[in-house]
Amino acid sequence: MYVIFLGAPGAGKGTQAAVVAKEMKLEHVASGDLFRQALDKGTELGKLAKSYMEKGQLVPDEITIRMVLDKISTLGKQTGIILDGFPRTLAQAEALDKALVKQEKAIDKVAYIKVGEKELLKRLSGRWICRNCQAPYHIIDSPPKVKGKCDACGGELYQRADDTVETAKKRLEVYFAQTAPLIDYYKKAGKLLEINGEGKIDEISSRIVTALKAGHS
Ligand code: AP5
Ligand code: MG
Ligand code: ZN
Repeated sequence: MYVIFLGAPGAGKGTQAAVVAKEMKLEHVASGDLFRQALDKGTELGKLAKSYMEKGQLVPDEITIRMVLDKISTLGKQTGIILDGFPRTLAQAEALDKALVKQEKAIDKVAYIKVGEKELLKRLSGRWICRNCQAPYHIIDSPPKVKGKCDACGGELYQRADDTVETAKKRLEVYFAQTAPLIDYYKKAGKLLEINGEGKIDEISSRIVTALKAGHS
C-alpha cells in the first residue's frame, strides 16, 4: 500500500504517520525529516535545503523529487509506504505518479488531515522534536515523560528553527498557495480521504486507520 499524508504544517502528519506506520506495517518516509537529517550531517543537500527551510519556503522541486524518489528506490518492492510532506506541489505529484507507473505501482490513498488555522499555529509554536528520531512532542498537549528527552529513544528534544510564529505563518501561506491544490488533484483521482484532524491523537489515528482500511472517509 502506498499512502500520502496531506495537510498543512502542524496538521499532525508526522505524529499520525508514526502511529499508523507501526499499526499497518508501513515505512514512514518524511521529506522534511530527510532534509533535517541532511542538515544535521552538514551535507551539501542539507546546506542547500537550509536556506529555503529557514525562510518557510519550499525547497526546489528538482532537488526534493530526486531525494524522495531515491529514498523510495532503496526500499524493497514489497514495502508499503506512508509519504509525509511529499508531494507538496503539482509538479511533485506528477513526477511521483510517473515514477510509480514505471514500477507498475500507484498511490492507493491520500489521507488529507484537516485542522483549523488557529489550532495549527498553537501546535507549531509548542512543538519540540527529537534530534535523533524526529518524534514530535508538544509542551502542553503531548509532553515527553522526562523533560527534554524523547520517550522513544532518549534523544535530546529541540525546537525547529522554522517553528517561530513568523516562519510558521509563512509556511501556512506557502501551503495554501502551492500544496492545497493537491486536494483537488487527488479528489479528481478518486483517492482522497478527508480526515478530521482535531481531537485526541489516538482518536485521529483510529479515524485514519479505519478510513484507509475501508477505502473511504
Ligand atoms: P516538514 O517537516 O514537512 O514540515 P510541515 O509540512 O511544515 O509540517 P510539520 O512537520 O510542521 O507538521 P506535521 O503535520 O508533521 O505536524 P506534527 O505531527 O509535527 O517541512 C519542513 C520544511 O522542509 C518545509 O517548509 C520545506 O522548506 C521543506 N520541505 C519538506 N518537504 C518538502 C517538499 N515536498 N517540497 C519542498 N520542500 C519541502 O504535529 C505538530 C505539533 O502538534 C506537535 O507538537 C504535535 O505534538 C502536536 N499535535 C499533533 N497532533 C495533535 C493533536 N491531535 N492534538 C494536539 N496536539 C497535536
Ligand atoms: Mg512533520
Ligand atoms: Zn527519539
